Amino acid sequence: MTEYKLALVGFGGVNRALAQLIAERNENWKTELGFTLKIVGVTDLFLGSVIGREGLDAALLAKLPAVKGAMAQLAGGEADALNEAVIKDSGADIIVEATFTNPVDGEPATSFCRWALERGKHVVTTNKGPIALHGAALKALARSNNVTFEYEGSVMSGTPVIRLAKQSLAGSSIVGFEGILNGTSNFVLTRMEGGLGFAEAVSKAQELGYAEADPTADVEGHDVRLKVVILANELLGAKLKVSDVTCSGISSLDLGDIEKARQDGARWKLIGAAMRHADGSISASVEPRLLKHDHPLSGISGATNAVSFTTDLLGAVTVSGPGAGRMETAFALLSDIISIHQSVAHN
Ligand code: HSE
Repeated sequence: MTEYKLALVGFGGVNRALAQLIAERNENWKTELGFTLKIVGVTDLFLGSVIGREGLDAALLAKLPAVKGAMAQLAGGEADALNEAVIKDSGADIIVEATFTNPVDGEPATSFCRWALERGKHVVTTNKGPIALHGAALKALARSNNVTFEYEGSVMSGTPVIRLAKQSLAGSSIVGFEGILNGTSNFVLTRMEGGLGFAEAVSKAQELGYAEADPTADVEGHDVRLKVVILANELLGAKLKVSDVTCSGISSLDLGDIEKARQDGARWKLIGAAMRHADGSISASVEPRLLKHDHPLSGISGATNAVSFTTDLLGAVTVSGPGAGRMETAFALLSDIISIHQSVAHN
């Protein structure tokens, strides 16, 4: 039975949910997926770190109290985050990177990915920063070290988008996409349609845990802009930088705009989009757009995300589902590990 050894980098909600999945489902995965997972190291800036080459107790890890230095309570644990040791020397085959997104330079996550790839370890990540800012360099590094770099969870969490487009839509000639790629802003717009004011709707999204602590990145489109760069570079072969994507958010919309749209048989949605033009150039934007009710994205309400691919052979192909959440994003990491398993099996 194939067993993959994992080092978890960042132990917030997402990697904790992955530990929980491993604790509950590893046995089933033997028959369902053809492999099992063993956690051999964990590191987190707040909680500290632990290495256990023979395998750590996933159930115990999943229940670790969220207090500073808590890893020191575990056998072999430390209150300090020994990132380098966990990534390079824990004996892991796969590094599972789920630290915070830094939209400015992608650090420290980009260095974590680089250290792992340079040492011939596969990397799976949910982090938008390294992909949007350094995706091409990291992919080249993975290739030259004969390992895999997967990041399905960076866009729309576990809802299949990147792999679906690259694998199942291969040959359909994707020429562009439009997406509702931020749950908070879509939730806010939906609530405003119900009569709630902008500020109240944002507070509600924070209460429900959709919005970031500082919701500016959600409502001003910055979060969507990173996702547009990732999708455009991945699916359209673009070489966009974040600054190439024009960006405006939903904070300028008021209840009057929402009501006017309703009277016109339309809805405001925050749309991240990219399109390849006849001359081969690619344009990309994040902006509120008025969608008529027959548009494939107009019925996507609340915190749900969706992306509609424009293809040559099939026309519009739309996928919708959760765009955030601990378990939803942990599933994306599992799907990346399955993809590694499949590519290892084919080589
Ligand atoms: N705050 C983000 C959202 C989380 O509302 O969609 C996922 O990137």
